[in-house]
Amino acid sequence: MESKLKIQYIDENLKKNIPPFDANLGFGRHFSDHIFLMEHTDGRWQNPRIEPYKNISFPPSAMTFHYGQGIFEGMKAYKRNGELFLFRPQKNLERMNNSARRMVMPTFDNEEVLEAIKTLVCLEKDWIPDLKGYALYIRPTMIATEPCLGVRPSNSYLFFCIVGPVGAYYPKGFNPVDIYVCEKYVRAVRGGVGEAKAMGNYAASLLAQREGQTYNCSQVLWLDGVERRYIEEVGAMNIFVRFKDELATPALLGSILPGVTRDSVLKIARDWGLTVNERQISIDELIEGVKSGSVLEVFGVGTAAVISPVGRLVYQEQNYTVGDGKTGELSQKLFDYITSLQIGLEKDKFGFVEKIDEAAILEKISKSLGGVLPAHLKKKELILNHSEPTSLFL
Ligand SMILES: Cc1ncc(COP(=O)(O)O)c(C=O)c1O
Repeated sequence: MESKLKIQYIDENLKKNIPPFDANLGFGRHFSDHIFLMEHTDGRWQNPRIEPYKNISFPPSAMTFHYGQGIFEGMKAYKRNGELFLFRPQKNLERMNNSARRMVMPTFDNEEVLEAIKTLVCLEKDWIPDLKGYALYIRPTMIATEPCLGVRPSNSYLFFCIVGPVGAYYPKGFNPVDIYVCEKYVRAVRGGVGEAKAMGNYAASLLAQREGQTYNCSQVLWLDGVERRYIEEVGAMNIFVRFKDELATPALLGSILPGVTRDSVLKIARDWGLTVNERQISIDELIEGVKSGSVLEVFGVGTAAVISPVGRLVYQEQNYTVGDGKTGELSQKLFDYITSLQIGLEKDKFGFVEKIDEAAILEKISKSLGGVLPAHLKKKELILNHSEPTSLFL
């Protein structure tokens, strides 16, 4: 980035109403008052700025609309007792740069983008619920903007980041979901773009998801693209299988998105003394294990839902209930531990949690705004007592 981050603060009377932070909040439906933007032209990122949230428009010939050069990330900011936290944000930005390399898009400086994200988060601190199970969802995105038809990398790009408050990813909160094992369609293949958080991967997943809905399944269990033999991911999450004496997750062999939550669960489970393996798990091994009872739990892991227990598998027109169909002991323990860690309620022995130095960021915001801080950033945060957290998941 060539110049420093500039901030244009929204006119007070154009501010949106912040939605109530309750069970109706949902996921991904509300967006705050500001957006971070920068453009890549002439071979470098230019004009990084935070502006009032707005529509963005491009000519119909912009390359992202035709050839799908588009990537994104998903991370969260948490608030507790007025303090703001991020969970391993550098991992997301590293992954976004890996996605950019795979899609022949420009990389960016992680530190500078992280600083911009922290500034946006501080500016929007009133939009962050101070409640366990809730967060501010952060969506960095990059698209190709050159107006040109022709299959080649674009010569210009837009990076933007929007944020908004979220509650539980699944309407029913932390409850087991039913999963459809899809044999007809695949999400990704080795050598393809499954390892990247490329927009097209999600479009490619929709038809299978719709097919799964006819079996009342909310998510799809993806099998490998070559043999349809090994399990890969579940919906937009990585998958873990708890056998009697082993916790296993599919190895990253090229078609699986390397999840930040996956990596965190691996580290935590190893620290808890579990036998943990990253290896290939065949659908036959999984189904046999569910039938025989050697599979105790199956769960998805990802930023949005954190841990998502699997209650039932539908495979080749048969129903298989995992364990007793209820949330397993390890799923619950991991969920409680990670959600507590994220808001600073657990000692952070892994160095996963990054507390935002709000004073330093506010100073920068004030400088950028000519020495004036918006009123809401001056007020002292209401200190809530979290010994009995109000939570979606209690
Ligand atoms: C396809 C896919 N797999 C796995 C994940 C989980 O990754 P993370 O834990 O970084 O959210 C995501 C979500 O980003 C995803 O979209």
